Amino acid sequence: MREFDEKSITRAVIERLSECGDARFKSVMSSLVTHLHDFVREVQLTEAEWATAIQFLTDVGKTCTDQRQEFILLSDTLGVSVLVITLNHPADQGSAESTVLGPFYWEGAPDLPRGSNLAVGVKGEPTFYSGRVLSVDGRPLENALLDIWSGDGEGNYDMQIPGETGMKARGRIRTDGEGRYWFSSIRPTFYAVPTDGPVGRMLRKMGRHPYRPGHIHMIVSAAGYLPVTTHLFIAGSDYLDTDAVFGVKESLVAQFDRHAPGVGPGGERMDTPFYTVNYDFRLRPAAASGA
Ligand SMILES: [Fe+2]
Repeated sequence: MREFDEKSITRAVIERLSECGDARFKSVMSSLVTHLHDFVREVQLTEAEWATAIQFLTDVGKTCTDQRQEFILLSDTLGVSVLVITLNHPADQGSAESTVLGPFYWEGAPDLPRGSNLAVGVKGEPTFYSGRVLSVDGRPLENALLDIWSGDGEGNYDMQIPGETGMKARGRIRTDGEGRYWFSSIRPTFYAVPTDGPVGRMLRKMGRHPYRPGHIHMIVSAAGYLPVTTHLFIAGSDYLDTDAVFGVKESLVAQFDRHAPGVGPGGERMDTPFYTVNYDFRLRPAAASGA
């Protein structure tokens, strides 16, 4: 029989991995055990705190549904999601920077012609989006895909609106022969991440606000290039400096220009004020990174 003290317990757990046949898993688990034990020793974790942590993680799991992923929210609000993205998607060669996917992506948005309005019947100020998808050396990418989604002008995503069962403010647009895209939607506003679950309790206990600055999500992809999961953030939006999920990157903040009622960029009659924004996305070739 072996007894363990507060130091030797760590070595003992790691030694139990000696028969593990997966080198990467063995390495990750050994590091996890080392850091976890160091953490417990460092904060001198009490039994009551340990029980609270177990209950918290149990609550996080029970809060997850097909429509809600509380563990991703936990990862997001602790900065782990952005850390993983930053490690795995360095924005070198001037490529568009990545940021969090977030919990509101809904696969299977409709393919729409360029120029479509993604936000028919959605609350918010009309906005015309345009730009190009280019390779990092400046060549236009034809048939690149923008998979786009956002909340509405009041900060709600379709899946959060009671009674709303269909997709809203979502769509997939492809670039033309010159790499250009254009579509209209609304100008999203800042919103709070869900606060009615355990992560909300954690944020309140930490003294943190739950808000994200206004942004529209996009996954930009093209054959032979590395896809980018990103946002465009609205310049001047509240909470740009204190995004609850740490997702803001300077290069992703875009100017949304306000226009008086009149004629839109496509010649359409606009009876209300509207916005325009222009942004180019640059993608790295897949081969360059060995992907
Ligand atoms: Fe979002």
